[in-house]
Amino acid sequence: ATERRPLIAGNWKMNLDHLQGIALVQKLAWTLKDAGFDSGAVEVAVFPPFTDLRSVQTLIDADRYALALGAQDLSPHDSGAYTGDVSGAFLKALDCAYVLIGHSERRTGHGEGDEVVRAKVQAAVRHGLVPVICVGETEAELEEHGTSAVPVRQTKAALEGVAAGTPVVIAYEPVWAIGTGKVATPETAQEVCSAIRNAVAEALGDADAAATRVLYGGSVKSGNIAGFMRQPDVDGALVGGASLDAAEFAGIARFR
Ligand code: G3P
Repeated sequence: ATERRPLIAGNWKMNLDHLQGIALVQKLAWTLKDAGFDSGAVEVAVFPPFTDLRSVQTLIDADRYALALGAQDLSPHDSGAYTGDVSGAFLKALDCAYVLIGHSERRTGHGEGDEVVRAKVQAAVRHGLVPVICVGETEAELEEHGTSAVPVRQTKAALEGVAAGTPVVIAYEPVWAIGTGKVATPETAQEVCSAIRNAVAEALGDADAAATRVLYGGSVKSGNIAGFMRQPDVDGALVGGASLDAAEFAGIARFR
């Protein structure tokens, strides 16, 4: 999708403490620099655990790395008696640009349904963070409803109450492809990402749909990224396992 700046996002999940996170980010930045990577053409973002954010942000800031920062979750509330929650305001104060919302590991492991996802999207928007809304079907849902039904429903539910003109990113992550080595075909990714874009158009209008980046996630590697990036409606990738290796993640960012 030539009119949109591709986004290659690394979701570290619950891996790498702040010292390991610093080491990875340094290696990633140097690898990209050595390769003459054009960060104007492709945006690269990392999503470390909360406890790493301050260290990684300081490093990006001090060394002027062309890397964007995101968090893996946020509270639907802004402040107050919510023990263990992290406010979007705190993430914004750490220069986070993005926040993942509705990752399948949160939906299944923490019982987050459409309502919680919607509340978190609202919180992100209130604090000037771009929500990276994760959608995707399980294997059973795939068999029952076909390819696009669940991601489209989840996208519409998450965008309810969002005003036109609000920047959002949608990540299509088929649950059966996450961390399994099973990867969707580029054609399937295209079909679903296109259906998601239509859902964004319904919710926010055609101009927003044309500007919104829709990512594919699920067992993305440097060896399979090119096929996805050739699809007109796939604007990047949300990468789990392969983002924990600087050379491999840099290889994904250099998909061309
Ligand atoms: O959020 C990224 C993710 O869930 C995909 O994980 O390890 O299959 O790339 P992985």
